[in-house]
Amino acid sequence: MRLPVFHASLSPHAWTGQPMNAPRLTRRFAPVEMAATSSAGHSDEHVLEPAASATVLFVDQSGQLGGAELSLLPLAERCAARSEVLLLSDGPFRARLEALGVRVRVTSNANVAAINREALRPGWLRALPGILAQVRTIAAQAKRFDVLFLNTQKALVLGALGKPLHRRPVIWHVRDIMTRDHFGRVQLHIVRWLVRHVTDQVVANSRASADALIALTGLPADAVPVVHNGIDARTFAQVDASDIRALRHRLGLPQDAWLAGLFGRLAPWKGQHIALEALARLPGVHLVLVGAALFGEDDYAQALRQQADRLGIADRVHFAGFRDDMPAWMKAMDLILHTSTEPEPFGRVIIEGMAASRPVVAAAAGGVLEILRHRENGWLVQPGDVPGFVEAIDTLHLAPAFARQLASQAFSDVQRHFSLDSYLRNMTRIIAHTARDEPSADR
Ligand code: UDP
Ligand code: GLC
Repeated sequence: MRLPVFHASLSPHAWTGQPMNAPRLTRRFAPVEMAATSSAGHSDEHVLEPAASATVLFVDQSGQLGGAELSLLPLAERCAARSEVLLLSDGPFRARLEALGVRVRVTSNANVAAINREALRPGWLRALPGILAQVRTIAAQAKRFDVLFLNTQKALVLGALGKPLHRRPVIWHVRDIMTRDHFGRVQLHIVRWLVRHVTDQVVANSRASADALIALTGLPADAVPVVHNGIDARTFAQVDASDIRALRHRLGLPQDAWLAGLFGRLAPWKGQHIALEALARLPGVHLVLVGAALFGEDDYAQALRQQADRLGIADRVHFAGFRDDMPAWMKAMDLILHTSTEPEPFGRVIIEGMAASRPVVAAAAGGVLEILRHRENGWLVQPGDVPGFVEAIDTLHLAPAFARQLASQAFSDVQRHFSLDSYLRNMTRIIAHTARDEPSADR
């Protein structure tokens, strides 16, 4: 089945590898037939639910509620009857999974958790015993399942290294743009080696993430399927925003101000400082920052408050902290802002803003370009371009009819191309396909 424009299909050719790559397993990266989204926005009801038969161990490095975790949540729920989630850190993600009936285990190690995104710091030697222990723990658990699904990069390293022990097919969901701009040389080498020699299947959260991985690893262009995140637009449509003042009152927001909302964890590359700079040039606008420093960026969070003071806009900036109720918070806004200074691998907040029927102004890079079309279903600005953000916000503030037109097109597009149903069907197909194609189930 050919896929619609927003989903890339899997290769009809297995990746048999060049001499340099020489993968040991001949059936790795074999083609998967993907579910398409119908023009009505619902996928084909007659498609089988393949994950029903494969048992899956999902591994995620974080207990926090980041986009990777929120995206795993409905997939783990869908597979709950025959799967388990192994977290390498404890946190609120655990309770959210358990509330959905998902079995969860936590195996944490402070030294391993301290190795961060930018580089494998010299401290990794200190972490070595912890790394080996986690490799063994993951492998011991993986043996109880048909497939090992690694949801984050650290999970990839720890889960894939144990393959000689667990001998289960390995899927990695790549959710980062793996380039030298964002990752250390050693880290990229490790990922390249693991993808070439160990993983059986990769799946990317956007074309942008897929292309970077293809460039890094030399995989054929069609060996990396793209499955965009999907969301249930109904949960947004259900929020009653007809009395916007009442909604804002309930959330503790100013009732009559014109509100731009920026949703996401506080982190330098998410660019909240760019939004503050723009706000200083938009006297009639308030900014609501929804999100917290999830991964130790407390200095940045502090710097943002200082920046707001320095710019004399503190009375128009509202720090809401981390919130659970995205639909209500997004519906309370006049506009949704996205200001990442680096290419966003996908950007769940953008499709959520679209589902909330709000105009979205976003940084034009990475996966965002697969979601928004400038002045058709949103407004694109070059990353870090403060005057560009000022112009976009000002224009939409002064032209409410145009803003509504963008929002209405966005709402239609998100239902059509980013449905939860389609996301779940494509992901479960990949899982089932990898389980079926892998002859290593020797328990
Ligand atoms: N989010 C949330 N509460 C907050 C701020 C953000 O639940 O206070 C959610 C947001 O709705 C989105 C996710 O966090 O689903 C962030 O995902 P995204 O893909 O935008 O960015 P990531 O953090 O994964 O880089
Ligand atoms: C990662 C990316 C984000 C993406 C999310 C879900 O956390 O940073 O852009 O939306 O994964 O795939």
